[in-house]
Amino acid sequence: MKILIVGSGGREHAIAWKVSQSKKVTKLYCAPGNAGISKVAECVPIGAMEFDKLAEFAKEKEIDLTVIGMDDPLVAGIVDVFEAKGLRVFGPRKNAAILEGSKAFAKNLMKKYHIPTAAYETFTDPQAALDYLKTGKFPMVLKADGLALGKGVLICQTKEEAEEGVKTLMLDKKFGSAGNEIVIEEFMTGREVSVLSFVDGNVVKIMSSAQDHKRAKDGDLGLNTGGMGNFSPSPFYTEEIDAFCQKYIYQPTVDAMKAEGRPFKGVIFFGLMLTEEGPKVLEYNARFGDPEAQVVLPRLENDIVEVFEACVDGTLNQVDLRFDNEKATVCVILASDGYPVEYKKGFPIEGLERFEEKEGYYVFHSGTKWDSEGRIVTNGGRVLGVTATGATLKDAREKAYEATEWVKFENKYMRHDIGKAIDEAET
Ligand code: AMP
Ligand code: GLY
Repeated sequence: MKILIVGSGGREHAIAWKVSQSKKVTKLYCAPGNAGISKVAECVPIGAMEFDKLAEFAKEKEIDLTVIGMDDPLVAGIVDVFEAKGLRVFGPRKNAAILEGSKAFAKNLMKKYHIPTAAYETFTDPQAALDYLKTGKFPMVLKADGLALGKGVLICQTKEEAEEGVKTLMLDKKFGSAGNEIVIEEFMTGREVSVLSFVDGNVVKIMSSAQDHKRAKDGDLGLNTGGMGNFSPSPFYTEEIDAFCQKYIYQPTVDAMKAEGRPFKGVIFFGLMLTEEGPKVLEYNARFGDPEAQVVLPRLENDIVEVFEACVDGTLNQVDLRFDNEKATVCVILASDGYPVEYKKGFPIEGLERFEEKEGYYVFHSGTKWDSEGRIVTNGGRVLGVTATGATLKDAREKAYEATEWVKFENKYMRHDIGKAIDEAET
């Protein structure tokens, strides 16, 4: 089979690496890809939002399956464009990707189908939002409705902060039209767990759990980022919690989308908060997580192409999805100092070859490219996802941090406490 992957981050590198191991694959392309992806796939210089050019490329090269990694093209309807041209594609259509694309849609769906989530109201009128703040309990959480690179969420400790937040989102339009509508919701406390799943429209099969570290600095301080590192599995995601989520969250979500005439095919990422009242949904994403893919896919035992095809064909019930439970994985993101605000890029990276020699160590590229002198240089806020597998989470964490020392580039930045919850699980 010929496969095309759309995207250019660490998530797409992890997907491409896993696809490259499939016995079914004869040729792998990635658009636009990055320097790391170019080791396992042929990179094609077409942007992820250039739908017509991508579809033309897929026709011309007789691609058998295209896999969309990123949220932006999914929410904008890339799957519909491919399907209209008779091309096979893995990912939700536009009317289903709205599960991630609109927080108001997601919240209203959960309310209608009694899926546990934080209490909330939605607002399109700034004055109504301001009036509502007079009635609520603080802290309160404000969310821009649309995609805002994970930055459109404000946790407000006081009424004054929340008033400022309404102004930032709805009047100053800091995140553009994403702030035309906002969700104001109750603040929840508990552990956050990421659960990714494969979905074929009817059936949902979950992958092994993971825990992300969203804040930029040690001790969960600093700004929210795309994710600074994570680990899989989560010791807090117990069988009891899994049974609850299967019954009240996963299948009900898939059934709700179907009942709304928006059958979901692809990956649903359930962002969960394990509260004292039980697990609740923080958010849905319509794609693999980044860096969740980097810790979950190295533990997946199936041929991933067979799983993708089962989702597209509606035969996921025939797939026995298996993860290596003897292994744990930890990923530490090496970023450019200053991320997620301002940072310099274009610095040569040294030490990458060591990963090719050692089993159980991976370096997934997030923001890298080849420069004109043939060197791999930094090209983003998140640069590399240094990942290791081990017999235990602690073992994997030790190896991942050991491997972070192999890599050198100017302005390299990382958190030093990825996986701190692993120790907390024991106490
Ligand atoms: P989201 O993009 O909705 O996942 O929000 C980003 C981050 O904000 C989450 O990962 C949480 O850490 C935090 N967050 C979002 N909603 C809430 C909430 N209702 N209560 C507490 N924290 C929240
Ligand atoms: N790591 C969180 C996300 O992919 O949204």
